[in-house]
Amino acid sequence: MQFDILTLFPNLIRPLLAESILARAIDRGLIQVQVHDIREHAEGRHLVADDYPYGGGGGMVMKPEPIFRSVEALLTDSEPRPPIILLTPQGRVLTQAVVRELAGHRRLVLVCGHYEGVDERVRQHLVTHEISIGDYVLTGGELPALIIVDAVSRLVPGVLGDEAAPDKDSHSAGLLEYPHYTRPPEFRGWPVPDVLLSGHHAKIERWRRQQALCRTWARRPDLLRHAPLTDEDRRFLGQWIAGLPEDDT
Ligand code: ADE
Repeated sequence: MQFDILTLFPNLIRPLLAESILARAIDRGLIQVQVHDIREHAEGRHLVADDYPYGGGGGMVMKPEPIFRSVEALLTDSEPRPPIILLTPQGRVLTQAVVRELAGHRRLVLVCGHYEGVDERVRQHLVTHEISIGDYVLTGGELPALIIVDAVSRLVPGVLGDEAAPDKDSHSAGLLEYPHYTRPPEFRGWPVPDVLLSGHHAKIERWRRQQALCRTWARRPDLLRHAPLTDEDRRFLGQWIAGLPEDDT
């Protein structure tokens, strides 16, 4: 999987690629991340990449020419066009389903907006997708671009190692994940649930599923509307909810 990140602030991005799982994935050649400085495609002595908005108003707008040229410098006629994604609070909200969709491509071009925004012609004539990481506004698209690199890379085979399975994570099965425990078996008087120490795999699996169901119901009931639930899941949840004190339901 190849990522090309186009930004006015390459130094915001690089440190986060130099540590932990992403750094290891890059070292092992499982992902490639190229960071491109949009300013290198700006013109004039001062390499100006932004300008005042037509019509007045506050803030600056990123000029179209450097962005078009930065993207065009990456594309070749011999390769199919990758998705060209603008990070913007106006985009489609990123979910695990969108992450899975993006992971189906072999290359993603991520364009980081900044200041008040980008010239509308970038939206209209250059980018193919617009993605938001949530309903709040950041100072720029760099953190959102890194979030996409991180979330998509975890789905690339080998990135998480052999043991970790991305399909068990929160959201992958449409539910939040069950609670995790590690040693010691008792910490400050708080014990690990007995079932996890029982060695009984079927019971552990059932407990985890039930915990995931209860947790999702309590924290993100909206997810349950779309989660693929079995008859047993529904029966369990119904009984569990019926047994709760009235204040909790
Ligand atoms: N740029 C600023 N805010 C953003 C958001 N929420 N998502 C994506 N890009 C952004």
